[in-house]
Amino acid sequence: MDEYYENTAASYDRVAPSYAGQFLGELAHKPLDRALLGCLIELADGGCIADIGCGPGQVARFLRDRGADAMGIDLSAGMVAAAREAHPGIEFRQGSMLALPLEDSSLAAIVCFYAIIHLRPGDIGAAFREFQRVLTPGGYLLLAFHIGDERVHRDEWWERPVDLDFHLLMPEAIETQLGESGFGIEMSLRRRPYEPHEFPSRRAYILARAIPESAEAASR
Ligand SMILES: C[S@@+](CC[C@H](N)C(=O)[O-])C[C@H]1O[C@@H](n2cnc3c(N)ncnc32)[C@H](O)[C@@H]1O
Repeated sequence: MDEYYENTAASYDRVAPSYAGQFLGELAHKPLDRALLGCLIELADGGCIADIGCGPGQVARFLRDRGADAMGIDLSAGMVAAAREAHPGIEFRQGSMLALPLEDSSLAAIVCFYAIIHLRPGDIGAAFREFQRVLTPGGYLLLAFHIGDERVHRDEWWERPVDLDFHLLMPEAIETQLGESGFGIEMSLRRRPYEPHEFPSRRAYILARAIPESAEAASR
């Protein structure tokens, strides 16, 4: 792991308890997110769903509480520890979405909420190819991210020192990169923030499907 991702992981290690305190209950205020996650459970049809960049695991927990076979993966050991403490019955692994600790074709679906915003923009395609590798052919990916074209840097969060870049992303560009990585777009929508509960950014949600015949091409 290079210095950029070491700094990202170390930053989230420092704020993990505070992040968990603020966000563990957030889905109670997010009806559209709950509906989309319910849709993903139906599409996964009993197969494993990985919550990648899971933070304290609130999404994995929502999925599990509704009967899904869910687990979580996060770059930050502190976040993984917070997720394990909050949800003892769910498996959480430490790992990067650029080299996932998962077998080929082992997942029916991936949910990745507000985590690709921390990738270096040049690494997003590599993450999508890694998602394609671990999904079964025809598997589903549900992405969420903040919309925009700027980079926001933070060096302090909850009064702790951090070194974090948040890359706001344009949905059209992400759809293009998904297409180049072997995904077909099933659904793409934008919503306003749920105020006062959320940071006041517009948000994008994209549901994509791993095109079976593209798996081999995307890995080349
Ligand atoms: C803004 S938080 C989102 C957490 C959770 N998905 C949520 O919606 O609250 C971003 C998370 O992505 C994780 N992350 C950042 N880069 C990652 C990477 N390369 N691979 C896996 N996780 C990563 C961070 O450690 C952090 O927990």
